[in-house]
Amino acid sequence: MNIDLYLTPMPLNRANLENKTVAIIDVLRFCTSTCAALMVGAKGVIPTIGPGEAVEMWTKLGGDVAVLAGERGGLKIENFPLGNSPAEFTEESVGGRFIVMTTTNGSGVFSKTYNADLVVCCALVNVSRVAASIAETDRNLAIVCSGQEGGFSIEDTICGGMLIHLLTAEHKKEVTLNDASSLALLLYQTNWTAIKKTIQQGEHARHLAELGFAGDVEIAARIDTMPVLPVLKEGRLVPKGEPGHD
Ligand code: MLT
Repeated sequence: MNIDLYLTPMPLNRANLENKTVAIIDVLRFCTSTCAALMVGAKGVIPTIGPGEAVEMWTKLGGDVAVLAGERGGLKIENFPLGNSPAEFTEESVGGRFIVMTTTNGSGVFSKTYNADLVVCCALVNVSRVAASIAETDRNLAIVCSGQEGGFSIEDTICGGMLIHLLTAEHKKEVTLNDASSLALLLYQTNWTAIKKTIQQGEHARHLAELGFAGDVEIAARIDTMPVLPVLKEGRLVPKGEPGHD
């Protein structure tokens, strides 16, 4: 299995993802929030690029079917009922409904994967579930770190490194790594005992803490606490393996 990791989504514009599995990582916070929403019974998360597109989609679906959520600069978008904190996604707020979501980095990346075979949403909270699913096939893998405002982010890279570690050490996959994959693996191998601290020291976590969202970083650093597998189907992230979603 070839594993190509992208430290930011930028090169995806040129990448050929045909016949590949694509794991998109956004630990802080889109993918963590998506897992949280699916864990409490949301039907799915619909990632959109901008607030305008999100409102249009939500209006089309109707308020009984979907709820709007999203952030810009970390803060809830004006007039949106939900922001991007995993704890906001409860059975009461989203159970039985879709969430139309727009975030600064993570949600837009999904629109760049149109020619992939399978697209999965990965965070530390579901990384083992993602690894187990990827290990079932020998399809080549692209790991895309959403990053922060177009740049590198340590939390997505260490999560990518952990995914590679699980595939090689636990699932015994023979892999060929690109240089960014080797770097991510090295980051994980040298920091696996202090993942939370490594993330908390990062720029994005510090920004979130300044906004009062340190609790979100705590939640996002809890490995394998939300063992759900969100897969992209017809523009919606739905839980694989749940009734009606296979
Ligand atoms: C994003 O996708 O841009 C992030 O989830 C930003 C955040 O809300 O922390």
